[in-house]
Amino acid sequence: MPLTGPGADTFALGGDLDVRRLGFGAMRITGEGIWGEPPDPEAAKSLLKRVVELGINLIDTADSYGPEVSEELIAEALRPYPDDLLIATKGGLLRTGPGQWPRDGSPEHLREACEGSLRRLELDAIDLYQHHSPDPKVPYERSIAALKELQDEGKIRHVGISNVSLEELETAREIVEVVSVQNRFNLTDRSSQDVLQRCEELGIAFLPWAPFSAGELAEPGGPLDRIAGGHDASPGQVALAWLLARSAAMVPIPGTSSVEHLEENLAAADVQLSEDELAELEGAAD
Ligand SMILES: NC(=O)c1ccc[n+]([C@@H]2O[C@H](COP(=O)([O-])OP(=O)(O)OC[C@H]3O[C@@H](n4cnc5c(N)ncnc54)[C@H](OP(=O)(O)O)[C@@H]3O)[C@@H](O)[C@H]2O)c1
Repeated sequence: MPLTGPGADTFALGGDLDVRRLGFGAMRITGEGIWGEPPDPEAAKSLLKRVVELGINLIDTADSYGPEVSEELIAEALRPYPDDLLIATKGGLLRTGPGQWPRDGSPEHLREACEGSLRRLELDAIDLYQHHSPDPKVPYERSIAALKELQDEGKIRHVGISNVSLEELETAREIVEVVSVQNRFNLTDRSSQDVLQRCEELGIAFLPWAPFSAGELAEPGGPLDRIAGGHDASPGQVALAWLLARSAAMVPIPGTSSVEHLEENLAAADVQLSEDELAELEGAAD
């Protein structure tokens, strides 16, 4: 599966689904604590429509966002879906209250979760179904085998995994073709560097979550702030541009509940950082 090359603006997810390298994370379109309805559901639907209008064709969600609310809003706002829109959802977490995310990686739960997502999104098959997080109570092989079974039944086109170590990535790959990994990765948290590198080698996508977290680097006068000033950009745009420049496998999915922030985030694709700036940011968090 070849990569589309550094700086290219699309990535062939699973080898056959071309997506722009800046997607949209739909976790923030729910209520406080990623729980319940958003304060203004109509505004959330307008935001989703704007996502598609701006040419974004990868939307990341999960049954647990709300729960169910994010997927329901996506279906209400965007059906009939544009042909090129890839909705990536996930299963494997339960919701017991705001901010609470207990895991359930049992095959029974994953089947129920996938079938629930199919119903809510009103799809015959999910283009990219991701296992949300390994469940220490369930052997990882069993969870992944459950997704393989759903794929064999035609309910899932491609399988992705999330919050995994290098070892878990290799375990999953022995059971099913894995086309993407979604791990936390940003300027100050590069703990998944080994997984990112493996994704590059394999030509599979790496979807970094929490892409903006930059801690002290973003403070006024700090490196991010200074570099942003030179590009007439915001520190958040530079954080995204750094991710895009870092690896051709990188497909960030920044989340927002605001149209203004969405437009700003998308414009990060046009911020071209120099080699010196990239080197400074590379070394800044060491
Ligand atoms: N696999 C996993 O375990 C996992 C975990 C977390 C997230 N995710 C996925 O990754 C996506 C992104 O992660 P995330 O939502 O945690 O983090 P994020 O995208 O790093 O941050 C979103 C936060 O940044 C703010 N923001 C966004 N754009 C902004 C801008 N231009 N200016 C100022 N503030 C801005 C948002 O507030 P506003 O709403 O005010 O813009 C929101 O509070 C999620 O939507 C979800 O799809 C996956």
